[in-house]
Amino acid sequence: MSNSTSHPKSGPKSGPKSGPRSALGGFSVRSPIGSGRSEMQPGSAARAWGETLIQAQVVTKSYPMGTGRLEILKGIDLEIRSGDALCIVGSSGAGKSTLLHILGTLDRPTLGKVLYRGQDLTKKSDDELAAFRNVSMGFVFQFHHLMAEFTALENVMMPCRIAGASPKDARAAAEELLTLLGLAQRLHHHPSELSGGEQQRVAIARALVRKPEVLFADEPTGNLDTVNGEKIQDLFFELKQKMNLTLVVVTHDEDFAKKFPKVLHMRDGHWL
Ligand SMILES: Nc1ncnc2c1ncn2[C@@H]1O[C@H](COP(=O)(O)OP(=O)(O)O)[C@@H](O)[C@H]1O
Ligand SMILES: [Mg+2]
Repeated sequence: MSNSTSHPKSGPKSGPKSGPRSALGGFSVRSPIGSGRSEMQPGSAARAWGETLIQAQVVTKSYPMGTGRLEILKGIDLEIRSGDALCIVGSSGAGKSTLLHILGTLDRPTLGKVLYRGQDLTKKSDDELAAFRNVSMGFVFQFHHLMAEFTALENVMMPCRIAGASPKDARAAAEELLTLLGLAQRLHHHPSELSGGEQQRVAIARALVRKPEVLFADEPTGNLDTVNGEKIQDLFFELKQKMNLTLVVVTHDEDFAKKFPKVLHMRDGHWL
């Protein structure tokens, strides 16, 4: 384990540490869809920093293989605190995506628990988890997974519409976030009319439009060239600050990992 790595059992202990400086200017982030959440201003402490948010307890994941089982995660312990910017880094096949999916309740562990603010998520039904994710978590993946037949604006409106927001409110929220991400002139473009970096910005806007508490990203710059990849990397830190996010990124990219205040190294399904 390197010096930059905190012990998984005690968890990352960072305070909010800013990443690279902002290119976004003083944009105000409001709560636009009347979700009952308090307004968030950049830099405000709308969310208490440093509380235990997510805990993985002896998380094991295995798949049947032949007469035995293939163990992918071998008893992972982890504590993520609100306000953390955590990077989990490791080479391909280490189990990073599997762990991220389990932390984000997109998958379930074979054994072990995932707690969110002390609540055992592994006890919740799929429907309960879907509702929980819609409010609390945003996801960005290596490939943008935007819907080709919809515009950037419509793609970003989608989570709000699914959550019951009116078209007007959904549109206001989506426009605000796309503008924050520098895409005010691209609202009505379809994904095929956008560059790779722009597509990923739209995907980030879609992940954040419901103002989640946690943003999970899985190799979010893996499909971009170096210049655009670095811009998107820096954007994550700016958005973390602006939107009071807890940020959890998994990547094989050691240079990206160096930008994080907290880094955990993974190999063969366990911490190094
Ligand atoms: N559904 C599955 N069935 C069997 N093996 C799987 C499945 N999903 C992932 N794996 C295996 O788990 C290991 C870790 O995969 P993954 O979490 O995607 O690693 P990483 O994201 O670090 O590259 C890989 O060896 C992969 O082949
Ligand atoms: Mg992966």
